[in-house]
Amino acid sequence: MATVEWDQRERALRLLDQTALPAVERYRLCRTAAEVAAAIREMVVRGAPAIGAAAAYGAALALGEPDPGSGLALIRSSRPTARDLFWALERVERASDPLAEAHRIVRESIEACRAIGRQGAALVRPRARIVTICNTGALATVDYGTALGVVRAAQELGLEPFCYVMETRPRAQGARLTTWELSRLGIPHRLIVDSAAGLLLARGMADLAISGADRICANGDVVNKVGTYPLALLCREHGVPFYVAAPESTVDAATPEGSRVVIEERDEAEVTTFAPPGTRAWNPAFDVTPARLVRALISERGVRAPEQVVRA
Ligand code: MRU
Repeated sequence: MATVEWDQRERALRLLDQTALPAVERYRLCRTAAEVAAAIREMVVRGAPAIGAAAAYGAALALGEPDPGSGLALIRSSRPTARDLFWALERVERASDPLAEAHRIVRESIEACRAIGRQGAALVRPRARIVTICNTGALATVDYGTALGVVRAAQELGLEPFCYVMETRPRAQGARLTTWELSRLGIPHRLIVDSAAGLLLARGMADLAISGADRICANGDVVNKVGTYPLALLCREHGVPFYVAAPESTVDAATPEGSRVVIEERDEAEVTTFAPPGTRAWNPAFDVTPARLVRALISERGVRAPEQVVRA
């Protein structure tokens, strides 16, 4: 299974279509920057590092097209919140060989995720019960994962972790994708509805929570899937450590705090499935967890306090 892969023969980007999982395993081939932008927008590819990798190849395609500016603009406006998308675009646009740079981003991303796993596993005790939100595994990255990479590394070390998987309304990344990945990895888990996290933590059923991040601001505020902030608040209330695992490419040193980040608002129809026809909805895709609720950030460079995210 490859989430994001360059097809050299077709000179196109091959994406595992995450909108069809877990029922159907199919791929989408993107031959133009516009097709890559559409795949990001439709969440065929999703998760900050995977979006970054796709954007890198999209930019490489754009730079070979007659009107590179419009291709790049489409990718830039596909999804607003994940820092990795803009970081990847900046790198590829500056490069003398855009495709080689995209390949380099992908290789670095795989290495970063494995290092995040190693760093984070040192914080996990044997048989730890870990709460996760959204999908932060191989599907959300080029390979291995961030928060789920920590769980995976713990499993590989024989620590026998157990996961409580938050369903993650409204797109069900936890229910559809994280359970699928954990099953394939043989990691025991149980799915919970998002609103069960309170009772779970109040009953002492979890030892720690780990989330990924779409953007980490200069003051350590973490922007991640909507529902992360209430999870972090619950962890604080119940004395459970809340960790954030993300690569350095997710750090946005130029944005001072979370309130300055553009939070994507998606289609109302994602929320109104069970509501009477005509019901209006507000559907923010992310929220902001203040730095003070985060025990530590886990990146490929190590574990540090959120306030230390931008080091002198
Ligand atoms: O809307 P999504 O599915 O792209 O949101 C993904 C998340 O919120 C992840 O937690 C984040 O991107 C980190 S993925 C390793």
